[in-house]
Amino acid sequence: MNAPRDPLLHHVPELLPRLLPTAMLEALRERFGARCSTALALREQHGRDESPFDVPPPEAVVFAESNEDIAAVLALANAHRVPVIPYGAGTSLEGHLLAVQGGISLDVSRMNRILRIHPEDLTATVQAGVTRNQLNAEIRQQGLFFPIDPGADASLGGMAATRASGTNAVRYGTMKENVLGLTVATPDGRLLPTGSRARKSSAGYDLTRLYVGSEGTLGVICDVTVRLYPLPEAVSAAVCSFASIDAAVRTTIAIIQMGVPIARCELLDAHAVRAVNRHDKLTLREAPMLLMEFHGSEASVAEQAALVQEIAREHDGTDFEWATTPEDRTRLWAARHHAYLSALQMKPGCRCVTTDTCVPISQLAASIQASIDEVEASGLPYFIVGHVGDGNFHMGYLIDPAIPAERATAERLSAQMVSRAIRLEGTCTGEHGIGLHKQGFLLAEAGEDAVDQMRTIKRALDPNNIMNPGKIFG
Ligand code: LAC
Ligand code: ZN
Repeated sequence: MNAPRDPLLHHVPELLPRLLPTAMLEALRERFGARCSTALALREQHGRDESPFDVPPPEAVVFAESNEDIAAVLALANAHRVPVIPYGAGTSLEGHLLAVQGGISLDVSRMNRILRIHPEDLTATVQAGVTRNQLNAEIRQQGLFFPIDPGADASLGGMAATRASGTNAVRYGTMKENVLGLTVATPDGRLLPTGSRARKSSAGYDLTRLYVGSEGTLGVICDVTVRLYPLPEAVSAAVCSFASIDAAVRTTIAIIQMGVPIARCELLDAHAVRAVNRHDKLTLREAPMLLMEFHGSEASVAEQAALVQEIAREHDGTDFEWATTPEDRTRLWAARHHAYLSALQMKPGCRCVTTDTCVPISQLAASIQASIDEVEASGLPYFIVGHVGDGNFHMGYLIDPAIPAERATAERLSAQMVSRAIRLEGTCTGEHGIGLHKQGFLLAEAGEDAVDQMRTIKRALDPNNIMNPGKIFG
């Protein structure tokens, strides 16, 4: 069971996969029948995510269909000291789902019922496997939407577990701001509610926000109560090209500093634009580009747009093009969402080492430019996409997995970019999380005492370390 270590996992201590005890497997089979599987193809499908790491798959996959199913798996796993990794849509990027210590992948994708919608309170409660597109399709007819959009059609449970954000966060916040409450299954098999449907609360410790972003290391999220928003009266999207990334970023900084309530403000570098042009058959100018969206009343959207056009002009922005029909907007945003996969197709057979930092907005230009200078000097192909209105951007380094030196270069560049973000009082990850890949950086960012506090919480809530062990802290 001791597979060769992936060199990218150098932050993670060597951990041997634990074997699933026969008694545990028998108990699972008795309760779950065909919903408990050890078929290799299924285990392999659950043993990877969008990260470039290769580790052995989990030893079994269990499909939960209710909160009680989840609680039952956890109670059994706790008794047998078997790791459990919650699995939603499989779209995380930093190795969160990988079975580094073996165990069970607990798939919640069949828990896909929308439980309650309260249009009058602007809240919805959904099972963990409901995806964001599913929720939006359901509530659109009631004039509502759920804004958090990490690109992939992720599950709400996974989005809560990773504190996801994405393109709309500059206006609507992240999962941190938009989750009101959860039902959580604890490692010893209890089901507990956190939070309420009230918009705010000062009742005790904020357990909701403890589980939001806990990456499956404290318990399993069974259902999620989120905030909804009325669909804006007017929506307008625009693209604008710039001679340099620096000009695009300085435009963004000015937009934010002036308090324009922009709904989306996304950067694509020329490589990313070329990739989406090819993948989505578009003809966008292959230069640094801002892709923006404005929400509000007709008058407010017009006012925001005029102001942003003025700012862009001051930075020599060209080709300001509007996409006012829903079809045009959908095409543009679909292309943006395909950026990561489109870029992978630019170098056949490549893998992508992504990194993701977020800095205070005034530091964004320096942060991006230095990262570009470093990657240009290295000769590695790369692309940049960024939720720049938040000070958040991703660098994707395209590497040949058969050439260890390329991986090492990507890791060095990522480390330089992350260290810079931390020096600039930012964070080692704005939205992709710690998972396996960023454990060393969490320590650098938060410091030993803070990470020690996190470990204390982990030990208190999961004393047998069955919940997604080996993540966040190694
Ligand atoms: C994006 C993902 C990679 O922004 O976070 O496309
Ligand atoms: Zn992103």
